[in-house]
Amino acid sequence: MTAPLSPPTPPRPDLPSWTRRSGTAPGSIATVAVIVVAAGSGTRLRNTEPKAFVLLSGRSLLDHALDSIFGMHETVQIVVVAPGDRLADAHAIAAQASARNAQPTAAMTVVAGGRTRQDSVDAGMNALDLSIEVVLVHDAARALTPASLCDAVVDAVRSTGHGIIPGLPVVDTIKRIAPSGAVLGTVDRSDLSAVQTPQGFPRTLLSEARAWAVRNGRFEAFTDDAALVADAGHPVSVIPGHRLAFKITTPEDLERAELILQAATPHSPVMPRIGMGLDVHAYADDDNTELWLAGLFWPGETGLSGHSDGDVAAHAICDALLGAAGLGDIGSIFGTADPRFSKAHGEVFLTETVRLVRAAGYLVGNVSVQIIGNRPRFSARRGEAETLLGGILSAPINIAATTTDALGFTGRGEGVAATATALLYPVPSTVPSQAPDLNWEA
Ligand code: CTP
Ligand code: MG
Repeated sequence: MTAPLSPPTPPRPDLPSWTRRSGTAPGSIATVAVIVVAAGSGTRLRNTEPKAFVLLSGRSLLDHALDSIFGMHETVQIVVVAPGDRLADAHAIAAQASARNAQPTAAMTVVAGGRTRQDSVDAGMNALDLSIEVVLVHDAARALTPASLCDAVVDAVRSTGHGIIPGLPVVDTIKRIAPSGAVLGTVDRSDLSAVQTPQGFPRTLLSEARAWAVRNGRFEAFTDDAALVADAGHPVSVIPGHRLAFKITTPEDLERAELILQAATPHSPVMPRIGMGLDVHAYADDDNTELWLAGLFWPGETGLSGHSDGDVAAHAICDALLGAAGLGDIGSIFGTADPRFSKAHGEVFLTETVRLVRAAGYLVGNVSVQIIGNRPRFSARRGEAETLLGGILSAPINIAATTTDALGFTGRGEGVAATATALLYPVPSTVPSQAPDLNWEA
């Protein structure tokens, strides 16, 4: 049951108190909450990360979505519904967004979501403060939604007292088709609307509708909140949506969002990132330990001691890559307690590190390594090592080696050290088949 709505009118004095705006002064009690559902896995996006944690211009979709909420006119309670095993990450993103937007007074709650979107909305509803009178339910996947759309939904809920959803006219011609693909007819699109989020409701109305759906065994039937509310017999109206409130569902949607952001900041260069790493291992005090250095086995040379194979060059590269990507260091990712990495060769660490760096949205630009030690004499096998490690990195690598002129622990022949510097660059978007519409107005 949806109907077009005329522009929001000012609150009427005969309507209840929640129809009047509140919470605009810092520290005042919020009467509006936004439940940001971010607990989905993003199957159709086909990323290694759950969708809300996938990066868009170097920041997670959840982070972008929270920026919109922080941009709203009034201070609202924000309830982030995150995957149960990623609550700490969601907390960190929420805290960063809060600090960046200088909104430390906005109440923020992070709760674990459920199996379906409706279960996740339920988890969000259970976290609402007592003071909340208007609830917006918003998909984190609609990461570029303008704050003005959220404000418009709140205003319309207040002025009408019923459910409000943003929607855009359907521009494509819609056909009904048979399973065979045969066209059965053309749907009249004049009364169709492609609806978006945030969807807003008086809190009591949404709670009652949800309870009604549970009592009648219809809870699982609805993919959006408005359908559930309308099914319970309550009016829901459509206000004009915004083209930037599109849902990021597929990799193509993510590319579109990336291009929109790039176009909006045409003069900001895409910044590469650099990182450096250092590693040292002592020579083993037995003749049985093999020497592995820069991914190669060095027969007849004294080995280096360590939990892994002691390949200082490979380890320094891993630290440089992880540092550039902001992912910590080799010790925090490949703990020495993990038996999988006991005596593992440098290639194993490097392959996994490159995978993590790519998942974080970066490609390797180049790597430069400096090995410091008396032995082995490296230069003869330099090309071999660069081919091997460059293949894993899919990037150019230069490996230099030096002694320290008999000075220090390397000069005394006690061990080998290596430093590495890595340059990463953000994964570029591919050119979409359709040029993006760069009009930021609805
Ligand atoms: N969502 C949720 N809990 C679920 C399922 C979905 O909080 N159990 C959220 C998603 O995080 C997303 C919004 O609901 O912000 C819309 O869902 P959708 O776009 O379908 O996201 P996913 O379910 O993550 O993606 P997919 O269906 O491709 O797996
Ligand atoms: Mg889904």
